[in-house]
Amino acid sequence: MSILNILRYPDPRLHKVAKPVTVFDEKLKKLVADMAETMYDAPGVGLAASQVDVHEQLVVIDVSETNDQLQVFINPEIIWSSDERKVYDEGCLSVPGIYDDVERPAEVKVRALDADGKPFELHADGLLAVCIQHEMDHLKGKVFVEYLSPLKRNRIKAKLQKEEREMNKKAARR
Ligand code: NI
Repeated sequence: MSILNILRYPDPRLHKVAKPVTVFDEKLKKLVADMAETMYDAPGVGLAASQVDVHEQLVVIDVSETNDQLQVFINPEIIWSSDERKVYDEGCLSVPGIYDDVERPAEVKVRALDADGKPFELHADGLLAVCIQHEMDHLKGKVFVEYLSPLKRNRIKAKLQKEEREMNKKAARR
């Protein structure tokens, strides 16, 4: 297994739209394992393939305290969402250090395939519902900061671009 490089906002590759997975082979299983390792290492509760520059509809999530309940969603679709909405203070491994309120449906029902290509359905609420919707947005090329006001978004962009320049300078000095 290996740890993959996570793209940082505002990298334009985060806005690519992911294609459905059609081949369920060893290569896909390796990608799932690498994405899980990358998510646990970060650490985070979810990671979409788009964030590691693989533009296929694949998401890994683990919202457990014990980090031992990995959930894999391939070609996920939301087939129902509640009218009730909830606000959650979201963060993202591609937008390090930034947290802000996003309002979404409180509950969703998802249909997806597992790593063997077997279909399943899941009713999610709480953090899992937030996480599924957040990660599925990544597959559509959408990052959570796009729910915020343009003013906030531009501030976040400027902050992360500055950090990126500083990291690059440090790397060049080495
Ligand atoms: Ni994210």
